[in-house]
Amino acid sequence: MLRTHTCGELRLSDANKHVTLAGWVQRTRDKGSVLWIDLRDRYGITQLIFEEGKSPAELVAKGRTLGREFVVQVEGVVTERLSKNDKIATGDIELKVTAITVLNAAKLPPFTIEDDTDGGDELRMKYRYLDLRRNPVRESLQLRHKMAQQTRTYLDAQNFIEVETPVLIKSTPEGARDFVVPSRVHHGEFYALPQSPQTFKQLLMVSGFDRYYQIVKCFRDEDLRADRQPEFTQIDCEMAFITQEDILNMFEGLVRHLFKNVKGIELPSVPRMKYDEAMQRYGSDKPDTRFGMEFVEITELTKGKNFPVFESAELVVGINATGCSEYTRKQIDELTEFVKRPQVGAKGLVYVQYRTDGTIKSSVDKFYTPEELGAWTAKFNAKPGDLLLIMAGETFTTRKQLNELRLLMGDKLGLRDKQKFSALWVMDFPLLEWNEEAKRYHAMHHPFTSPKPEDIKLLDTAPGDVRANAYDMVINGTEVGGGSIRIHDRATQQMMFSHLGFSEEEAKKQFGFLMEAFEFGAPPHGGIAFGFDRLCSIFGGADSIRDFIAFPKNNAGRDVMIDTPSTISDEQLKELALITKK
Ligand code: AMO
Repeated sequence: MLRTHTCGELRLSDANKHVTLAGWVQRTRDKGSVLWIDLRDRYGITQLIFEEGKSPAELVAKGRTLGREFVVQVEGVVTERLSKNDKIATGDIELKVTAITVLNAAKLPPFTIEDDTDGGDELRMKYRYLDLRRNPVRESLQLRHKMAQQTRTYLDAQNFIEVETPVLIKSTPEGARDFVVPSRVHHGEFYALPQSPQTFKQLLMVSGFDRYYQIVKCFRDEDLRADRQPEFTQIDCEMAFITQEDILNMFEGLVRHLFKNVKGIELPSVPRMKYDEAMQRYGSDKPDTRFGMEFVEITELTKGKNFPVFESAELVVGINATGCSEYTRKQIDELTEFVKRPQVGAKGLVYVQYRTDGTIKSSVDKFYTPEELGAWTAKFNAKPGDLLLIMAGETFTTRKQLNELRLLMGDKLGLRDKQKFSALWVMDFPLLEWNEEAKRYHAMHHPFTSPKPEDIKLLDTAPGDVRANAYDMVINGTEVGGGSIRIHDRATQQMMFSHLGFSEEEAKKQFGFLMEAFEFGAPPHGGIAFGFDRLCSIFGGADSIRDFIAFPKNNAGRDVMIDTPSTISDEQLKELALITKK
């Protein structure tokens, strides 16, 4: 090996040892008679020292020619430092260099390789391999490694078998668009990259594998966001001969194991909330339960007072921003602007200030008496010093809009601490979701999800009211995982496809293999998939999943480092029959 030790390893107890290190030149400080170099590798930083008169002159000269990020090998003697640095683990010692070899020179990096770099996003993406040299990014990937290891440890102990499923498959409907790969051998035909291994894991249950998992790449051609990448990783799991309760317990166990073994945190048992209740209390199917600020409905209290907005509203609902009664006009206007942005889409915002002096002032004083407003504050359990923020309109839309405002207020009031973790199971999702564009129902989770048996009778009369045996795991307001108990017989699966608008023929063409498998002894089964990148980013206290992926795509879905997507040659196009002439 080119080194005897790493750059993070040497301590005072190693004093006087003759050692060899190798790494990158992080920083050089030249004081004339003394030259220091910080040598860096994955494990840490060790200070090198060259002293005029004490080190051979040519050695000192050579030290001076080293640029940032040069790769060097140094030999030397470990010595106690005069001025110690308690910020780094090797801060008590330095290496008196006796020999130095440049293993490779380096061009000046386009941004500084420091924890706080001067490089912008795009530049760091282009030189991702340099960005990965920086501690925070490397640490994120080390966390990811640890998460994967601990996931395998837990699932292996629970008798799960890791099975790889194919990447060149046929479309699996998870609600996004597929990435497709043209076939060279079969002109005009395409593979699709899996949006998830859903059908394969169900087939493995038919095969009797009983407990399957896979840490697996999935591909979805959808609009990107901070928590979405076109290729991402799932911890994909499936079990046979189980009830929903068994799944919830098993995977709550996984999440608690991860918190304990990766972060040293004892996560309390995960509470459960029905979808309807989550929508009513938080206006979201993935509520951030790190803080309260729950919705309070005051529809009845507002009627009959000639305030047109509330008169015509199906729902009048608000939140209590505690301690915000003294917000200035400008601050309240900003909140109103926020809810009026197209992304939120509300028409306006009503406020009630329960001033610290006990008086009440509101934007609807013209319509409501102080007593009436007092009844509102009582319903909100408000105290002097509180600010009520109220919205009105159609129930579902208004809840969604107020959810955005609640999250904003949570941020403003510092209630969304990244080092605090609050997990929640959201259960009993609707089976179907109306798609306005297609003018038909879509499966809210996927078409293999089983309806609650007691709701099946509603499929024809009130499809939107049918609940599914489906559940999501939510942590800090992010959906980190979702799954369901599956349909496992042909007749029910066929019925589901017909409710989703598939003709019998279409269903057979796309999913005939699965329905046929159900006729060869399919056990009752169900499962879940966690978004592994999301789970890692939450554990790492980050907003974006990008830094937990070694080579992510940018916001436009491009890899600017390797420059893709890119065109392919006419030759390739011809071979794939994507162009015929030229
Ligand atoms: P679902 O579609 O809910 O379920 O996906 C499971 C989890 O994967 C994560 N996720 C993503 N992460 C990053 N980028 C994306 N584009 C992205 N899309 C989804 C989310 C999500 O909760 N086959 C089913 C699971 C099952 O039923 O067992 C499925 O894929 O955290």
